[in-house]
Amino acid sequence: MDFEEMSNGLVEIKDVLIKVGQEWLIEYINERPLDQQQHLIAQIAQVDWQTFIKSNDEEDLLVNIQNAKAPLYEVKRDLQDPLYSVYHDLGEQTIKAGKVALLLVAGGLGSRLSFEGPKGIYPARPISKISLFEHFAQKIHVAQKQYGVELKWLVMTSPQNDEITKLFFRSHRYFGLKSDQIHFFCQNGLVAFDAQSNQVLLEKEDRLQLYPDGHGGMLSAFKSSGLAQILKDQGVEILSYFQVDNPLLKILDPYFIGLHLKSPQSSAQISSKIVEKTRSNEKVGLFMEIDQKMRLVEYHIVPSSLLEERDEQNQLKFRCASIAAHLVNLDFLMSCEANLPLYKSIKPLYSFEIESKKEVLKPAFKYERFFFDLIPSAHRPLIYQVLREDEFAPIKNRIDVDSPESSYLLQSDQIKTWLRNIGYESWVDALEEDQIIELNYIDAWDQESLLLAIQSNKITLPHPKVDKKIYLSAAYHF
Ligand code: UD1
Repeated sequence: MDFEEMSNGLVEIKDVLIKVGQEWLIEYINERPLDQQQHLIAQIAQVDWQTFIKSNDEEDLLVNIQNAKAPLYEVKRDLQDPLYSVYHDLGEQTIKAGKVALLLVAGGLGSRLSFEGPKGIYPARPISKISLFEHFAQKIHVAQKQYGVELKWLVMTSPQNDEITKLFFRSHRYFGLKSDQIHFFCQNGLVAFDAQSNQVLLEKEDRLQLYPDGHGGMLSAFKSSGLAQILKDQGVEILSYFQVDNPLLKILDPYFIGLHLKSPQSSAQISSKIVEKTRSNEKVGLFMEIDQKMRLVEYHIVPSSLLEERDEQNQLKFRCASIAAHLVNLDFLMSCEANLPLYKSIKPLYSFEIESKKEVLKPAFKYERFFFDLIPSAHRPLIYQVLREDEFAPIKNRIDVDSPESSYLLQSDQIKTWLRNIGYESWVDALEEDQIIELNYIDAWDQESLLLAIQSNKITLPHPKVDKKIYLSAAYHF
């Protein structure tokens, strides 16, 4: 950029900077040395400032939220239902035909866990401590074996963790999967603003600080990645969307896929798994019908009167809690507007302070888009209720609720339940209350495969008092 180009560039962005209350940047740029001016102007020109002119779509959502209704329909797993096997078989055929790919959103910062680095490298399991990424890779290995198909795995990263995530996969040899079955794509960054001065945050003297634009940023990143065509050419029709933080989730669930495709309550566009919410203050998104449209509304947006509201049976009125697992049809996804609503929140963020020339933490306005805002665009979005103990053990906070400890306990409880159900109650009863069990997922992944593994001596149950923590694995002989 020569001087003339640069001055033109500055004139072009001046108007928009004034509109978004960032005129201070013009003066700031003028005070910088030439090379820094160039960097800043080039970066500022790339920011979609218009987005912030009407910057709080949450206000529109709130207008009619007081008239929200609880969703009328929710489908449960009912093994007695004669249609159960119809949906299950259809789902299985769909997976076997290679029509389902997996989509992991892993671009978040994991700040609540106070963990440096991508959350996907955090230990997923209590004893082996394998990472969340490896844990999901194991689930994919097992599914490939079960269904005899190579599964495509899309992993969304963000500018903050893209490089390190890819490096982690590479250095772990893609956890035994083929490198070309895993497709990384990176969401975009958005600027944030100092909550007191409203000035846009900097990363360093000549760079704006960018933060991930929320998992709703998936849409524009996916559209521009060209992956949709690649997947279509390979026959993929449905994406099974999941978050990096819930090890218990069935990431590929044939019955859910069958329901999504053929249930009269589904338009086969987008379907979501829920659990029943039991605590009014649980931090989960809630399904609500607002203005005849099904929506998923984030917990911090729902007014507390509605969070507490109870129905005639004294149950929470809004109790369809999202576990952030969705099935989305590729054509539907591609037909949706990429600019999903933008939500504003206030969060402590690190940024470069001009006066002290240091990185400081201060309250800031951060903006993001949510993937689940696709739901109101579907004709009949399906909601499918699963049991918490089967599919929800998130790792979100450092301690207490939704912490690694609580997730590890829930994972261990699930194995104990399986063992009881297949006839090993006395072994489980002999365990101490706080004894933790982990099962090597590759050797056994559900009740039936666990029974087979024990009967065939692939897995041996050791003396219950052998250790405080018991790892059940084919490689572990007692
Ligand atoms: C999320 C859901 C909530 C649901 C709960 C269930 C949101 C906003 N809320 O809450 O409705 O009930 O899980 O556990 O999703 N991510 C990105 N890019 C980003 C931001 C996040 O890929 O820019 C990914 C994260 O890596 C993570 C997931 O999205 O896998 C969830 O993000 P987070 O913001 O932690 O949502 P929660 O508050 O946990």
